[in-house]
Amino acid sequence: MSESVRASAAEKPDYGIDAPAVLRNLFLIGGLCLLLGLLLPPVVHLGQVNLAARPTFLWPAFFLLFEACLYLLYVKFGKFRHRDFMLGMHDWRGDEQVLDVGCGRGLLLAGAAKRLNAEGHATGLDIWSTTDLSGNAETATLHNLELEGVASRCTLVSRSAAEMPFADAAFDVIVSNLCLHNLYDRPTRLAALRHIARVLRPGGVALISDYKLTSEYAKEFQQLGLQVQKKRGSLLTTFPPLTVVIARKPL
Ligand SMILES: C[S@@+](CC[C@H](N)C(=O)[O-])C[C@H]1O[C@@H](n2cnc3c(N)ncnc32)[C@H](O)[C@@H]1O
Repeated sequence: MSESVRASAAEKPDYGIDAPAVLRNLFLIGGLCLLLGLLLPPVVHLGQVNLAARPTFLWPAFFLLFEACLYLLYVKFGKFRHRDFMLGMHDWRGDEQVLDVGCGRGLLLAGAAKRLNAEGHATGLDIWSTTDLSGNAETATLHNLELEGVASRCTLVSRSAAEMPFADAAFDVIVSNLCLHNLYDRPTRLAALRHIARVLRPGGVALISDYKLTSEYAKEFQQLGLQVQKKRGSLLTTFPPLTVVIARKPL
């Protein structure tokens, strides 16, 4: 076997770092507080004010670096556990039409596609924002799908979640992780939620995971006539802690 063939056989999919600037800032500011807490004299005199340097800087350092480590744990391990937790909420037949809203580099998309047979198909929708996910690009996602051996069962669509170009009732299962909070204004988010309800087939299920705004998603789905439940992801492996809104469209 040649070197290049062996190298590509060993290559693993890379699902990127979510909101990379947040992780960088946690480490940077936490590290800076740690240095100040360790290097400054115990009491710093600032005019009339005497600042106790150790507690002032070491407590924030501890919290920020602890959060950075939890975040890193999610990026490296937790996201795979959370993907399996989400996909385990549906009883797969194999012939489902699946939509991943904000698929990024294909974490849930590839996981869902692996549960499909020749009649099933998975579609990933994204705008490929590199602020939200490191190395985010349609080509990077395609490459991951190839490495996972599911590219032939997947299609990628470059559009916003608020402007879904799909027919009504086109999907049996809709998944989404850490995407919808990135639609910053409420009317745009509500437009995305209405599209999800619209393109979901009667009898189908939407599994929408996020770290905030999940009550808003649940309320909107209920108003649109869907049956809604919520489940918390693991507090050990998701950071920030994630909640999954499970919305079923009645037959
Ligand atoms: C934190 S990443 C999560 C990616 C993937 N779901 C995962 O769990 O690995 C958020 C994703 O949402 C996408 N996104 C942000 N705004 C979007 C929008 N308006 N429409 C579609 N996707 C969007 C970003 O491009 C990014 O890929």
